[in-house]
Amino acid sequence: MAKTIHEQQCLEMQKETEGVKAGLQARLNELESLLNDSNNRVKELETSAKSKCQSWSMKVNNYQSFMDSQFHAMRDLRFTSDAIKQELLKTQKSYFEEFNLLEVKLKALADAAGNYREVLNENRKLFNEIQDLRGNIRVFCRVRPFLPGQNGKQTIVESIGDNGQLVVTNPAKPGKEGQKTFKFNKVFGPAATQGEVFADIQPFIQSVVDGYNVCIFAYGQTGSGKTYTMTGPNDATEEEWGVNFRALNNLFKISQNRRSTFQYEVGVQVVEIYNDQVRDLLSNRTGPAKKMGVTSISQPNGLAVPDASMHPVLSTTDVIDLINLGFKNRTVSATALNERSSRSHSIVTVHVRGKDLKAGNYIYGNLHLVDLAGSERVDRSEVTGDRLKEAQHINKSLSSLGDVIFALAQKSPHVPYRNSKLTQVLQSSLGGQAKTLMFVQLNPDVTSYSESLSTLKFAERVSGVELGAARSSKEGKDVKELMEQMASLKDTIAKKDEEIERLHLLKDLKNGYPGIDGEQPRTGSLSDKQSETGSTDDEKSEITDAALSMGTETDGSAEYVHSPEGVSLGKPKVVPKVRVLQKPAQATPTSKSESPRASSPAIKKTLSSSSNLVKPVVRKKV
Ligand SMILES: Nc1ncnc2c1ncn2[C@@H]1O[C@H](COP(=O)(O)OP(=O)(O)O)[C@@H](O)[C@H]1O
Ligand SMILES: [Mg+2]
Repeated sequence: MAKTIHEQQCLEMQKETEGVKAGLQARLNELESLLNDSNNRVKELETSAKSKCQSWSMKVNNYQSFMDSQFHAMRDLRFTSDAIKQELLKTQKSYFEEFNLLEVKLKALADAAGNYREVLNENRKLFNEIQDLRGNIRVFCRVRPFLPGQNGKQTIVESIGDNGQLVVTNPAKPGKEGQKTFKFNKVFGPAATQGEVFADIQPFIQSVVDGYNVCIFAYGQTGSGKTYTMTGPNDATEEEWGVNFRALNNLFKISQNRRSTFQYEVGVQVVEIYNDQVRDLLSNRTGPAKKMGVTSISQPNGLAVPDASMHPVLSTTDVIDLINLGFKNRTVSATALNERSSRSHSIVTVHVRGKDLKAGNYIYGNLHLVDLAGSERVDRSEVTGDRLKEAQHINKSLSSLGDVIFALAQKSPHVPYRNSKLTQVLQSSLGGQAKTLMFVQLNPDVTSYSESLSTLKFAERVSGVELGAARSSKEGKDVKELMEQMASLKDTIAKKDEEIERLHLLKDLKNGYPGIDGEQPRTGSLSDKQSETGSTDDEKSEITDAALSMGTETDGSAEYVHSPEGVSLGKPKVVPKVRVLQKPAQATPTSKSESPRASSPAIKKTLSSSSNLVKPVVRKKV
């Protein structure tokens, strides 16, 4: 029983054990499958880790090579920056050197500027001396060519000498017997070009810019080439320009060259004198031209015809426009069909005012360019009425002109300026220190012989005395020496002007790179220095005296002129189209030389505008 129980117990235990065993087996199986899963998972993770690892190492490589390339680039950049730094230092050094050089040069120029005035005055004095030695009245003869279609015409001109000699033949008396010799400062033959003629006038234009008054006029019978010489043919090419345009052109050129030391303003009036009445040819009034009064001018630079409009000009084009307008008006105002221009005097007056940028005072010059009425004698038996009146006025004015020049040439104490409107208008440019140039125009045709002879006799009369004196010293050693000195002075001036231009460029360049040398641009420092220094009273009074002795006026402040007799010369009319290009640097005169009693026309256009850039000029003393 016990055994059975035991056996039963054993069986139960066995069963239990088997049950446990089966449970354990199942658990084992479960665990095994879990293990398998885990193994698989590990494998998977291993694979993924491997691939990740690979990708990371690739990335690391990439970064490494990127870093390397950046490093190289940085190294290159450093090299480049070093090279640039070097280059910059080098450039800076060369700039420094150049600026120092410029500084030295500017200093030298500033020092030399002190001498400039002296040399300029000397230059002017020499120039004037030469002119004086050659005579303040000069007579040039110009023989016009035969015109197209006048082939085969016989000429009265026998010979033209280089020394200003002209021999004419009386066609009625062939041979030596009929020959007459005249002497001029110069004779231009039919082949002379406008340019060649002007070359001999140019010194006169320079005088105007230096503050002298100059009168250039053409005398001769109608058709002898007066207008051709003074203006040129209609629609002239530049080559054919007459004295008017060339003179103005030259004047602008000179003032431009001097812009560092002088500031010039130029104004033009154009009038005609017809039947002893003065008319403004540039008036903007419509209808018949207004008759103008002529003032007896006690101030050399007061306006002779104050009521005539004053037109500021800046360029030769302005002048051409004005002169053409004037001549157009001349035609418009003609009262008769026959050519009025041959029976009136036309006068182009150029007023020049130059401000000395250093001293602050002014010099004035004026230039009268006169195309006279035809000098032909009118047969009184043939003309009556208006024509006779015209002829009488022309005769009177031309003979008055002859008388004035004759009186001047003889240094007569009385000069009869008041005998005609013509001489009154030209008064400031005739006599005193003024320079007068007469063109004696000849028509070479034998049919004009008697007119030509009377023209030549007029010239002989007005110029004889002065020319005699001038001739005797003309070839003299003194003149030659002075001429050489002048040429060398001119040369030096031209060279210095070029140098100044160059320095200005350099200076501008420097100002264009402020701060390179750590300094402020130095624009105007020189001028500041100069204006601080100014000129001494002695210098000023010397200038004033010189200016006055040159027949120039030293005041430009007032626009009204009062002559000592109390005659108001009035304000020049400035036509509305006036353009004010640049105000003079100093509107109010400061120089003691600018006396309040005197004044001159205010011309509003300014040619040169370098008031804030005083450029000193070195002029070598000769
Ligand atoms: N030097 C010259 N060369 C060529 N033609 C000239 C010259 N001088 C004058 N003439 C011509 O002669 C003519 C008369 O000249 P012009 O100047 O009108 O004379 P004026 O003014 O004395 O009456 C014009 O046709 C002009 O072009
Ligand atoms: Mg004419």
